[in-house]
Amino acid sequence: MDTVLSGIRPTGHLHLGNYFGAVRSFVKMQNEYNCYFFIADWHSLTTHPTPKNIQNSTRTILAEYLACGLDPEKATIYIQSDVVETIELYLYLNMNTYLGELGRVTTFKEKARQQPDNVNAGLFTYPTLMAADILQHRAKWVPVGKDQEQNMEMARKCARRFNNIYKTDLFPEPQNYYFGAEALKVPGLDGSGKMGKSDGNCIYLCDEEKVVRKKVMRAVTDNGPQSPNSEKPEVIANLFKMMSIVSSADTLQYFEEKWNDCTLRYGDMKKQLAEDMVNVLNPIRERILEFSSDPARLDKIAAAGAMKARESASATLKEVRRTIGFRVY
Ligand code: ADP
Ligand code: TRP
Repeated sequence: MDTVLSGIRPTGHLHLGNYFGAVRSFVKMQNEYNCYFFIADWHSLTTHPTPKNIQNSTRTILAEYLACGLDPEKATIYIQSDVVETIELYLYLNMNTYLGELGRVTTFKEKARQQPDNVNAGLFTYPTLMAADILQHRAKWVPVGKDQEQNMEMARKCARRFNNIYKTDLFPEPQNYYFGAEALKVPGLDGSGKMGKSDGNCIYLCDEEKVVRKKVMRAVTDNGPQSPNSEKPEVIANLFKMMSIVSSADTLQYFEEKWNDCTLRYGDMKKQLAEDMVNVLNPIRERILEFSSDPARLDKIAAAGAMKARESASATLKEVRRTIGFRVY
């Protein structure tokens, strides 16, 4: 059975972009594959070197993962920093990764621009740590959004290069996995292209119903369709995109027709969108409250996950040490 791995950094609450771009795939895949889903707390140090209460931020994501339907009976759910084996593989991979290729990664260049006083080596080697996360379980599939494509390319390069240098076929080349036919980008409702924490345009899985409705009603729009069957400007296309994600096909078609014959009222469309969103989010939010209220249970789940993840990582690491020529204990 193929192995799957993915993770998210604990830098806030999960939002609809994370859910539809990544976590929804985790929930589906856990029934069909050997899955590892983790919380990338080491990675969050690349941008937040002194995180306030990192363990609570991690528990927050864990509770939200579980609320979305991740099941510790089906998948191995763990915290990155509990699996120290990852660091050894990270070191080996760094030895065969070059400054030039790491410097070309756009997320590195972006972050370096955003935090010019803290262009640290961890940020620079973010992709090799990510590759170590993936390769330590010899994962074949990685469900992530399109924005992770370049990091995934680096992970494939790490696998390929290791196999070539040491004349082995230890690592499969990990591939992106998308829920649908192609990568989904959940738009922001403020007219920006993408929903994301740093853009402050998120609808969070834990948002109260009235907050969700308010955020949707505030979505940026324009003066309305001016001529039949016209092309939609980006802000309106985003609204339709969001509807295609959370609403039924019939609902979407109804509003498409209204757009095409110029009778669309954005207020009506937003009300319907908010309603459909609330229906997706309400059960998830209820479960978040339930899981968050029991930190001891969360810690137990994390501890069990760590044991399983360490077992898999150390088996790979043994092979890696043997392959490079180190002593194997
Ligand atoms: P953020 O953009 O809020 O910082 P992350 O970068 O931590 O989110 O992303 C975690 C996961 O969620 C990644 O797999 C990423 O591709 C996915 N993701 C984040 N935002 C979106 C979005 N708007 N649409 C689709 N996928 C997304
Ligand atoms: N870089 C990913 C993000 O920002 C998080 C991550 C770290 C990850 N290691 C990973 C995702 C390994 C998939 C596989 O969302």
